[in-house]
Amino acid sequence: MKPLIFTEQYHSGLLSFFYDGEGFLIFRAEQEWTMMLDQCSHLKIPLSTGWLEDGCVVCPWHQWKFNAHGHCTWPPPAHQERIPVLPVCEKDGIIWLESEQKNGFWESIVVEKHWQDIHEHVPKDSCHWVGVKDRTIIWFGGTQEEVERAKNSFALTNFSTE
Ligand code: FES
Repeated sequence: MKPLIFTEQYHSGLLSFFYDGEGFLIFRAEQEWTMMLDQCSHLKIPLSTGWLEDGCVVCPWHQWKFNAHGHCTWPPPAHQERIPVLPVCEKDGIIWLESEQKNGFWESIVVEKHWQDIHEHVPKDSCHWVGVKDRTIIWFGGTQEEVERAKNSFALTNFSTE
């Protein structure tokens, strides 16, 4: 586990802080702590400039809502959008990152961020794949066959396909 902030630093609403060079926010809703990337999946606005409403973070720009799992719950229909969330807990007056394999979690954050960028910038029906190896992002797009071939030629620690 890794210490993040003192519990007393949090009062209510959304608290932003930097971790490993990236902006995050932390909040408590229904006794549960959530650590979330401080970036709206829509136009990358810092979510910490928004507010908490019914346990969801609301982006101040277009009022998209993200729950404690990072899933977009508004506007309907249900969006595929998701904000990376990390597991945290409170103990001895400190909020801890519950990860003993920080790099693994970090890599999955990087993949998710990259994945969102891809979703925004490539046609929805294109075939693509992203992975991380040694903290390097590998992205490949093409036909289904080409993507399968590329996947098989890399031994990756994390990957997503569509
Ligand atoms: S920028 Fe966050 S909802 Fe549009």
